[in-house]
Amino acid sequence: MHSYAKLNLFLEVLGKRDDGFHELETVMFRSQLHDRLTFAEADSGHLSLQLAPDASPEIRQTVPTDGSNLILRAAQALLDSTGQRHGAQIILDKQIPVQAGLGGGSGNAATALRTLNELWQLHLPLSELHRIAATLGSDINFFVQDCGAAVCRGRGEQVTPIPVTGSFSFVAMRPHQGNSTPAVFQQLPAVRDLQHSDAVVRALRIGSWKELSEAAFNRLTPAGRAVNAEMANLMDEMSRLCERPVFMSGSGSTCFVICANQPDALQMLTRCRPLEMPFASII
Ligand code: C5P
Repeated sequence: MHSYAKLNLFLEVLGKRDDGFHELETVMFRSQLHDRLTFAEADSGHLSLQLAPDASPEIRQTVPTDGSNLILRAAQALLDSTGQRHGAQIILDKQIPVQAGLGGGSGNAATALRTLNELWQLHLPLSELHRIAATLGSDINFFVQDCGAAVCRGRGEQVTPIPVTGSFSFVAMRPHQGNSTPAVFQQLPAVRDLQHSDAVVRALRIGSWKELSEAAFNRLTPAGRAVNAEMANLMDEMSRLCERPVFMSGSGSTCFVICANQPDALQMLTRCRPLEMPFASII
């Protein structure tokens, strides 16, 4: 199964809630970048997760395979909600950078919910998968919905799919250092001049990369730059080399530029190569 990454093309923080989370309006876009997940049925009560044999030492250090991984938490939540006993052996081939604002772990959890619901023949409706997803994290519902793009509200878990015309290309780079999402939210100053997602939604609907590049916005960017100086420098360098705006996805630390088409993306990637970042790709 492919388990996709997301980019936030718009993210506004509408306020802080009593439960400690922030009320958001964000436009999520599904990228072609993906992990691969393989599921096989196993003996009842036996849930296991392994990394693909060729996983790099860095992946082995940063991706847990114990019960703290969102894949196993999602699998367990499915069993808890149905009261059934099943088993699964799951293999994760990780390609999406972690702590990157690309939703890799959230996408993995959603893929586990959707796939195990079928493999175990639980027949849970999509609404129940959404309910479980929201208990596990804020970004998982977008991937459960399985759409190309959506406006997400609330903590991020209220998903309204939106139309996308044509395809969009992005050059994304992640510096060595990842960002902790809570740390970024903690740095957030009080928000004034609230921005709205309408222009980004329109750019996707009419298929205009130029309008998208003008309208894209992420309120968390200054906070992300404050917690990660390496990323701040990367954003400045990408902007200088590409001569266009650079955006942060989610709470970072992935930064991206919006491209006209594949040849343009290749040109932007070539310009950024000298920055020698651990992740640099057209996504
Ligand atoms: O829900 P998720 O696990 O993605 O959230 C990680 C952390 O990010 C939360 O514990 C919270 O500190 C912060 N967050 C937030 N408001 C949101 C989403 C996340 O403050 N809407």
